[in-house]
Amino acid sequence: MAKRTIVNMPGDGIGKTVLPEAIRVLDAVGFDAEYVHADIGWEFWINEGNALPQRTIDLLAEYKIGLFGAITSKPKDQAAEELSPALRDKGLVYSSPIVGLRQHFDLDICIRPCRAFAGNPLNFIRRDGDGFVEPPVDSVIFRQNTEGLYGGVEWTDPPAEVRAALETHPKMARFKECAGEDLAVSTRIFTRRACRRICRAAFDYAKKFGYKSVTVCEKPNVIRETSGMMRAEAKTIAKDFPEIALWETNIDAQMMWLTKNPEDYGVLIAGNMFGDIISDGFAGLVGGLGFACSANIGDELAVFEPTHGSAPKYETLSPSIVNPIAMILSACMMLDHLGETDKSKRIRDAVAAVIAEGKVRCYDMKRMTGRQEVISQGAATTQQMTDAIIGKL
Ligand code: NAI
Ligand code: MG
Repeated sequence: MAKRTIVNMPGDGIGKTVLPEAIRVLDAVGFDAEYVHADIGWEFWINEGNALPQRTIDLLAEYKIGLFGAITSKPKDQAAEELSPALRDKGLVYSSPIVGLRQHFDLDICIRPCRAFAGNPLNFIRRDGDGFVEPPVDSVIFRQNTEGLYGGVEWTDPPAEVRAALETHPKMARFKECAGEDLAVSTRIFTRRACRRICRAAFDYAKKFGYKSVTVCEKPNVIRETSGMMRAEAKTIAKDFPEIALWETNIDAQMMWLTKNPEDYGVLIAGNMFGDIISDGFAGLVGGLGFACSANIGDELAVFEPTHGSAPKYETLSPSIVNPIAMILSACMMLDHLGETDKSKRIRDAVAAVIAEGKVRCYDMKRMTGRQEVISQGAATTQQMTDAIIGKL
């Protein structure tokens, strides 16, 4: 297979710590690739007024596959304060570069697998009669990544024409007397194309990896139009997959069922915000942020990243304490995407072996509060965890 070129975007904080660890594992498994560094994150906002420089977009457009660590985002006023003095008063407005990346390249399919590794002390345990059970959670969330409540079409004090258009809806009568500055509107826009794509991708994945059910997790009884469209598209696509059951749950009930019967769910589909919620919920059952990996996939381009952020408070600790597994599993998703499934399986098996053995555990797996002393108290460093995984390959 020809040598691959991967666009390497460590970003901020612990993104810079965990991404090189994933590359060490990829090298050790024999993945033949070269990595080109691309700038993204807070320092580029401060110094250039753009957290997602055009040169990074160009590299991604050229090489099509990206590995991303994490970025730091801060509220609007703080972003304006930290901007380099030379760039102030130019009307620059900060926006999250990872959200920007997803929208720019239409990376509309977000995949977040949540699988429990046997022996992980962070796995969810449920009371069962007088004893306890550890449900074998193996769920994969397909989250629509570019539309819905995170689509960014929103106003406080909407312009007159927007207000007028909204007031053509009978349900707006209740808000008629509300002053503009006291009225905030965030839209939830779904397109049929995007609903179709996320549903299709979810069913394809369920078939490819042998999942028996796909669950649409929305709220169509209340949010009739958008959730209703997702549900309708799922039903249509399900007809092409007679061997896979289509289930429907409401997001609120699903959160309750997380602790009741999470092992019953295979692939799940949701819009942007509900997908964010259920994927964090499921991730919590299988070890949390140190284990939560994800893929952002478009027609032409794909970017793989851990779900966690830049955890700035751990950035400067030396040695580093954060768990590299979420990033390493994200690299496995990249291998799957590239068809290198034998290599991704070897890495996952190695991660599973280290976890099952239980000798090397980062601070999160020991339920310690994150600080430098955890290392002298027996927690593994980031690099020791990676070394242990490489040792099992
Ligand atoms: P965070 O995910 O960075 O950290 C939350 C907590 O989770 C940490 O304090 C730590 O206890 C734990 N944690 C995170 N990653 C871990 C790892 N690999 N191993 C062990 N423990 C880990 O989220 P937070 O603190 O809300 O945000 C920090 C910054 O990251 C903010 O600027 C935020 O905007 C940004 N962020 C970026 C994301 C991205 O790049 N995709 C996603 C989430 C937040
Ligand atoms: Mg989230």
